[in-house]
Amino acid sequence: MKDEFLQDVLAGLRLPQKALSPKYFYDAKGSKYFDQICELEEYYPYRTELSLLPEVARELKQYFKEKSVSSIQLVEFGAGSLHKVKPVLKELTMVTEFTAIDISGEHLQEASTELAASFPKLPIKVAQGDFTKPIKLEVSEATPMGFFPGSTIGNFDPEDAREFLENARTTLGEGSYMLLGVDTKKDQQMLEDAYDDSRNITARFNKNILTRINRELNADFELDQFEHVASYNQQLGRIEMHLRSLTAQQVQVSGETFQFEKGETIHTENSYKYHPEEFDQLATAAGWRRECLWLAPDGIFAVMLLAN
Ligand SMILES: C[S@@+](CC[C@H](N)C(=O)[O-])C[C@H]1O[C@@H](n2cnc3c(N)ncnc32)[C@H](O)[C@@H]1O
Repeated sequence: MKDEFLQDVLAGLRLPQKALSPKYFYDAKGSKYFDQICELEEYYPYRTELSLLPEVARELKQYFKEKSVSSIQLVEFGAGSLHKVKPVLKELTMVTEFTAIDISGEHLQEASTELAASFPKLPIKVAQGDFTKPIKLEVSEATPMGFFPGSTIGNFDPEDAREFLENARTTLGEGSYMLLGVDTKKDQQMLEDAYDDSRNITARFNKNILTRINRELNADFELDQFEHVASYNQQLGRIEMHLRSLTAQQVQVSGETFQFEKGETIHTENSYKYHPEEFDQLATAAGWRRECLWLAPDGIFAVMLLAN
């Protein structure tokens, strides 16, 4: 894992547009920063999706009753602090098994202990792993349903999002479902504020990737020589986060030297925004069909049920 981290970082920093994968934000500290982001006034996706989920789960319960689905194997991808699954589990009583997958193992373990206290009868499995790699589920009689909230799907480029959805369809299998949260296109200022808050928590989250590289890969990034930048790329329909070098400087990572011009950036994250109909095309290309759509007021966030 550490070797893969090193190879990915070196390869990313050798690119003409230096880049790092957002999956490396999430060490234990990065996961804690993400929880703080979720508490921010500006970060509407978290609270908007969370407020939709009780109604979504109530309607899903009815939907599955009508389909005579009596037990569900729920699998959450990028489960984080497991906040979003709680309202789902509360209403959707036909969930008989729950598996949570996340790259941030220590954080997930803590979150699952808390979840188990709230749902003592539910079998809960935690799996530290990368959801872009093949995942093998335990064989079960229950109907499989993926859960992918947080608009994490937006962190993939559209082609990679299609590939993820296709792989998830294979993993979950015939007759499965996928419930996912998608952030929508909206006012540019609202989008940019969500990724560049006034308390600079997102800036700390972004820079934490450099702290992690320093600690784990023997590097010497000076954090105060980089600044957090978040802007909406209208043409590509995505928020881009970068770390911009404030000076011309050299950085060593595991013995390799990287030059930075003043103003040069490392691209650390994309967050694609989709009109629901745009997302439908992606889901259809991955072999899913959209069964239900729940839109937040003013259409600022969408939750969708896809069926295989
Ligand atoms: C945007 S956060 C969303 C967290 C939570 N699902 C929510 O909705 O609040 C993304 C989550 O996905 C996890 N993650 C990111 N990339 C991952 C990967 N490649 N494999 C597994 N987990 C990943 C992160 O650790 C983090 O918990």
